[in-house]
Amino acid sequence: MTPRSPAFLDRKYLWHPFTQQTEWEKADPIVVRSARGATFTDTKGRTYIDGVSSLWVTAHGHRHPALDRAVRRQLGRMAHTTFLGLTHEPAARLGKALVDIAPSGLERVFYSDNGATSVEVALKMAFQFWAHRGEHRPNYLALAGSYHGDTLGAVSVGGIAAFHKTFRPLLFKSHFAPAPHCYRCPFRKKPSQPELRTGDEPINVRAPRPGDFRAETGCRWECLGGAEKLIKAQ
Ligand SMILES: Cc1ncc(COP(=O)(O)O)c(C=O)c1O
Repeated sequence: MTPRSPAFLDRKYLWHPFTQQTEWEKADPIVVRSARGATFTDTKGRTYIDGVSSLWVTAHGHRHPALDRAVRRQLGRMAHTTFLGLTHEPAARLGKALVDIAPSGLERVFYSDNGATSVEVALKMAFQFWAHRGEHRPNYLALAGSYHGDTLGAVSVGGIAAFHKTFRPLLFKSHFAPAPHCYRCPFRKKPSQPELRTGDEPINVRAPRPGDFRAETGCRWECLGGAEKLIKAQ
């Protein structure tokens, strides 16, 4: 490892998300050089399957020709302008395309830049909606065990202690209801459906009938009852 190698510079200057530095430094990092489709290749020439699509960012695969072409074409015109007081054609056209495929009632787009900040925007929009009607509504209902990103608003409505407990003093208070999770039912009822795995035939979802798992295990949708109680208390 030379003082100019990416691995050396990485260890000396960078932190990685959700990573214990002491663990990270024990092994030589995989240094990615290029990627195509579902794989990437490191500086030693080894190729790997990017099985998590780089954490879902490259859902269409690396270097998708249509996406790369569109990015290059756009860079030839401009990389960025503020959206404050200005607009431009790609944003306007994308807004229409998104509304066209959104469920009815969702009629406008507000651009954000990643998952966590989109949650911040949604929290603020909900609060502002009521503020404009003269109501102060600072209470958010959140699902236990959820993850929405690492900004403070997103952490405030998140429920994974390992990620969130250190920051508790900085967070606003949320009301947590159990998430409907039949696989690890918090009420110790059996799963009402077998878990779907990739490649499985889709399961026909229908209302429970006498004799179904839910009827047999006595499941009364207790998990949803928790959320209902919180909503009624507001
Ligand atoms: C369900 C969910 N919401 C929000 C986020 C945060 O997205 P981002 O990392 O783009 O801020 C993630 C990221 O893993 C996520 O899984």
